[in-house]
Amino acid sequence: MASTTYRGVGWIGLGSMGCAMATNVQKLLLREGRPVLKFWNRTASRGAPLVSLGASGCDSIERLVTECDIIFISTSDDTALISIVDQILDVQKLDGKVFVDTTTVHPNTTKETSDRLKSRSAAFIAAPVFGATPAAESGSVLMAMAGPGKAVEIVAPFGKGVIARDVMVVSDQPEQASLLKTLGNFIVAGTMEIIGEAQVLAEKSKLGTGTLEKLLELNFPGLAHSDSTRMTQGVYLPEEGTSPWSNLNLGIKDVQHGISCAKDAGTRLRVAEVALENMMRAKDFSDAHGGRPLDSSSGYGIIRQDAGLDFESDFVKERDAKKQHGDSK
Ligand SMILES: NC(=O)c1ccc[n+]([C@@H]2O[C@H](COP(=O)([O-])OP(=O)(O)OC[C@H]3O[C@@H](n4cnc5c(N)ncnc54)[C@H](OP(=O)(O)O)[C@@H]3O)[C@@H](O)[C@H]2O)c1
Repeated sequence: MASTTYRGVGWIGLGSMGCAMATNVQKLLLREGRPVLKFWNRTASRGAPLVSLGASGCDSIERLVTECDIIFISTSDDTALISIVDQILDVQKLDGKVFVDTTTVHPNTTKETSDRLKSRSAAFIAAPVFGATPAAESGSVLMAMAGPGKAVEIVAPFGKGVIARDVMVVSDQPEQASLLKTLGNFIVAGTMEIIGEAQVLAEKSKLGTGTLEKLLELNFPGLAHSDSTRMTQGVYLPEEGTSPWSNLNLGIKDVQHGISCAKDAGTRLRVAEVALENMMRAKDFSDAHGGRPLDSSSGYGIIRQDAGLDFESDFVKERDAKKQHGDSK
């Protein structure tokens, strides 16, 4: 750990990503005998797993920020981040504190946040992460970091080997990390669209989804293969009562950021536009089913419907029937 004199590390936001990453930070602090992690979440009960690891909950953002010098943030979107930063700015003394935002937001929001905190002599680092909740739990996400060099150095011990498998330092301008994350999300959403279409063709033409998945495993390992399993293993339509790996609403926000950034730069992400249309229609499906949470890969269900198949694959139908049978016993 770098020789730092900070008094405390804090974490704001314990959603599925935030809780997983904060857990890894708390484990590091415990290992190193440092003061425990302080945390705040809008829904306080979500802090229970951290409390069981010895971390300490704060009853307000103000208290957390007052007591900590390095403060991580993980919240859902731009509006939530702005509202959290509004509360941070209510704290009297922010000089020298380092804020690290792992939320996926539009680069313009990152720049505005950085400017607002800089005007109060605090440092701001954008540190969005690549990888879904299971990767956050195992500390194997990739983290992009951008911000002032000194602040990046202070925060580095929490990056590689703790929150992330690796850290890519992008620039001293925080918004560049958000732009990189937006491009990464475009690649993810575009790949999901391609794999969804390919899997539907494989199913309809009787080649079979398993044969295509084997090809993906042998010849296109990594993203293409994992997207395929996300579809064939029913992750796209999570079992009732379970959380998606990556919420569809957040995925829609991410793809919209990409389309907006492209427009600002005088170009277009046409594949993103196709993916977005399917994701918006998947959201309609969710709304029509009592707001059932869907994964960001659920555009696959729409590709299925457009090809005359049910939104629910056979795998999903069997899984849900088994669950219902189990519940009714
Ligand atoms: N999940 C993924 O696979 C994944 C992967 C990479 C990046 N990301 C990005 O990481 C971020 C977090 O994702 P997630 O999946 O952890 O989201 P999530 O599970 O929906 O959690 C969202 C968090 O934000 C809090 N929140 C929402 N609105 C708020 C507000 N107005 N004020 C204060 N707190 C608020 C929630 O508090 P409550 O608990 O009170 O609701 C919760 O702690 C998102 O930007 C997402 O795009 C997600």
